[in-house]
Amino acid sequence: MDSTTFTTITNIIQSRRTIKPNMMNGHKAPNGHIAALLELADWAPTHGFTEPWRFTVYENPAKFCQQHADIYKQGVSAGEFDETVYSNLQHQGDKASHVIIATMQRGDLPKIPPFEEVAAVSSAIQNILLGATALNMASFWSTGGAILKPAFKEFLQLRDEDQVMGVLYLGYADAMPEGKRTIPLENKVKWIK
Ligand SMILES: Cc1cc2nc3c(=O)[nH]c(=O)nc-3n(C[C@H](O)[C@H](O)[C@H](O)COP(=O)(O)O)c2cc1C
Repeated sequence: MDSTTFTTITNIIQSRRTIKPNMMNGHKAPNGHIAALLELADWAPTHGFTEPWRFTVYENPAKFCQQHADIYKQGVSAGEFDETVYSNLQHQGDKASHVIIATMQRGDLPKIPPFEEVAAVSSAIQNILLGATALNMASFWSTGGAILKPAFKEFLQLRDEDQVMGVLYLGYADAMPEGKRTIPLENKVKWIK
């Protein structure tokens, strides 16, 4: 790898930012872009070739958001139900281009512990986020709303051993937020001579 390639990937990694869908501008991505991002996802590392990443792509975010809002509504009692939460979920993707549900499908190799399957899917998701950044797309990895609730897992017809990894909102934005890290890198790294 030459230094230009390293500079390129450094720029992509460092400029990837979480951009929530309300900060997106409503521009649509061609489906081909999304397909190209899923190709990148498929090249994540995978122990034992279990390739546990599974994706459901919504070309129309509104369809996902209505389902998400309904899952929220079904999962709370009448007393707990909050109309504002429901409406926010319904409209969360209004300015996004595509929504991707990312799940972990547990492989059938018992020697691979579940955390490795989660790690592989996380790597696949990061490939999508970095690819999106390289395409000047905005992205948001969300586990909010009802995404981690049992009803969401049921809606996806996942087995007990599978895992919802989150929902990715993809689109475009006119402005980029500043990135920050709060713990110095030297506190996270130990070098041994
Ligand atoms: C597994 C995972 C789930 C996340 N879920 C949410 C979420 O539900 N809501 C949210 O605001 N941000 C969520 N984020 C995004 C983080 O808030 C974001 O990455 C963090 O603020 C750092 O900002 P950056 O991505 O721009 O570096 C999630 C990130 C990860 C890795």
